[in-house]
Amino acid sequence: MPDIPTVTLASGQSVPALGLGTWNMGDDSRKANAEIESLKRGLDLGMTLIDTAEMYAEGGAEKITGEAIAGRRGEVFLVSKVYPWNASRQGVIDACERSLGRLKTDRLDLYLLHWRGEHPLAETVAGLEELQRAGKIGAWGVSNFDVADMEELMTVPDGKNCVANQVLYNLSRRGIEYDLLPWCQERGIAVMAYSPIEQGRLLRNDKLIQISKAYQATPAQVALAFLLEREGVIAIPKSANPDRVAENAAAAELDISDEDWAAIDTAFPPPREKRPLAMI
Ligand SMILES: NC(=O)c1ccc[n+]([C@@H]2O[C@H](COP(=O)([O-])OP(=O)(O)OC[C@H]3O[C@@H](n4cnc5c(N)ncnc54)[C@H](OP(=O)(O)O)[C@@H]3O)[C@@H](O)[C@H]2O)c1
Repeated sequence: MPDIPTVTLASGQSVPALGLGTWNMGDDSRKANAEIESLKRGLDLGMTLIDTAEMYAEGGAEKITGEAIAGRRGEVFLVSKVYPWNASRQGVIDACERSLGRLKTDRLDLYLLHWRGEHPLAETVAGLEELQRAGKIGAWGVSNFDVADMEELMTVPDGKNCVANQVLYNLSRRGIEYDLLPWCQERGIAVMAYSPIEQGRLLRNDKLIQISKAYQATPAQVALAFLLEREGVIAIPKSANPDRVAENAAAAELDISDEDWAAIDTAFPPPREKRPLAMI
């Protein structure tokens, strides 16, 4: 089994730095078996963090996740997200209950505000804190928050209890390295890197293909290894193919030389100035 590194959240839990995404799962019953098998394969390989959301297939991905974790809930660090328009104080509580029902569990380990909406952050945070006090969620965080959003969050009551910010981050989207990533690292807020292989688009990059060949690895593995090198970063690749899940897990075993990291920096330059946070 690959030795997957861990990230310790501000709430104290240690979670794998390589987890499993679920976007697009649950939208076609013919694919359900492969999706469930893929998630189970990931759990078997130590990718025991699963990221889902009420948005994905309008609850369908949470149902698939519920099937995959049946009988092994204790092994899993379960993350879901609330739609911004459900994120009033009471709305967030009701949405969480619906997610728990689809996931067939009584508790989420981490619950995220999917992106900023019209409800004041103070209200959303009050609802999340209430869920935490009630034992329905272990911790809470946000998603698609840039530095200014995070700074605002820190000013609302209990806003500093945020443990994670899930954002678009991969080799071709390095903008957060300029400000948001160090901002989160300084405060012990985990960064969950979504679309870590740019939804497959990164895999066609010639430089990445060339470097991966030198390690008998795949471009996906090098792209994931890049994220695993970063302190406090959790990558959540999605695959509905068990063999590709195993391939992704094995990224944890890659040991890329400093010379090749430098070549990767040349091919995918880090930011030299502020870039607005990109979203998919
Ligand atoms: N918070 C947010 O706003 C937000 C936004 C986007 C995503 N997310 C989360 O982040 C997760 C990951 O992002 P993502 O799904 O957008 O993109 P991704 O993980 O970068 O890429 C997924 C795509 O890559 C393919 N793939 C995966 N591993 C592969 C491999 N080793 N070789 C070749 N192809 C591979 C998958 O196809 P197969 O399934 O056919 O293998 C799928 O088409 C999501 O599932 C979701 O949980 C969150």
